[in-house]
Amino acid sequence: MKIDLTGKTALVTGSTQGIGLAIAAGLAGSGARVVVNGRTPDRVEKAVAELRATGADASGLTADVASAAGVDRLVKELPAVDVLVNNLGIFGAVPAFEITDEQWSTMLEVNVLAATRLLRAYLPGMIERGWGRAIQIASDSAVVIPEEMIHYGVSKTALLSVSRGFAKAAAGTGVTVNSVIAGPTHTAGVEDFVYQLVDRTLPWDQAQREFMRTHRPQSLIQRLIEPEEIANMVVYLSSSFASATTGGALRVDGGYVDSILP
Ligand SMILES: NC(=O)c1ccc[n+]([C@@H]2O[C@H](COP(=O)([O-])OP(=O)(O)OC[C@H]3O[C@@H](n4cnc5c(N)ncnc54)[C@H](OP(=O)(O)O)[C@@H]3O)[C@@H](O)[C@H]2O)c1
Repeated sequence: MKIDLTGKTALVTGSTQGIGLAIAAGLAGSGARVVVNGRTPDRVEKAVAELRATGADASGLTADVASAAGVDRLVKELPAVDVLVNNLGIFGAVPAFEITDEQWSTMLEVNVLAATRLLRAYLPGMIERGWGRAIQIASDSAVVIPEEMIHYGVSKTALLSVSRGFAKAAAGTGVTVNSVIAGPTHTAGVEDFVYQLVDRTLPWDQAQREFMRTHRPQSLIQRLIEPEEIANMVVYLSSSFASATTGGALRVDGGYVDSILP
């Protein structure tokens, strides 16, 4: 299977680092023109430069897509895309009884409403042109609700519903809408987090295996997922090869969710 996204424009939200940047690199590596997004010009420029250094056709759009005004501005500057990846998502541990109304609202605004606004803005154009891909990055927390961040889990469950609903709205049009259930991933800050919990003298590979064995025993791969492994699924879903996959929630969770389906 040789994936060729030449001629396609892809927007990846929250892509100055981590999974978003890996997705942008993966899409660009398959020939797409990628648009990187983040809240500050310098971080967006740095990510764009990093991608261009690999030969990617990359540009950047600085916008806070968690606000209606930010989305409006972004859509004005980039009125049409062929591939929309709603990667932006925030998380943070708060004990169940201490999550405030404000924290609930922020979580839903950033993790659900931002993606919804962008789907509303870009899907009609894709439908009109008869081809398009929209992919939402969800989490294992959507189906295994973490006690220490219920609001995050709920936001990701809602994102699965948003995704399924918009797939129905695009039925029969050549446009597919899916979500990806990402599992525990090796992103910025994770190494510090791991070394807080295991012997600091262990080399990274052993440290992460010890962390997984002790703290994430449900994982079947018994290591953190690399961002590129999430990106691989997104690139496939963005391609013409995935034309019969829509309305789905595809797992790249290393077997973390103990279920045969979602
Ligand atoms: N990491 C994991 O283990 C894991 C597991 C499952 C699912 N996920 C999901 O995967 C996605 C990416 O996670 P990650 O860990 O790679 O994230 P991350 O490292 O925290 O990166 C977040 C990105 O979003 C950008 N951003 C934050 N707020 C923004 C806003 N309002 N508007 C535009 N951009 C914004 C940041 O850029 P600036 O700071 O430059 O604005 C950054 O590029 C999220 O949806 C997350 O829930 C992650």
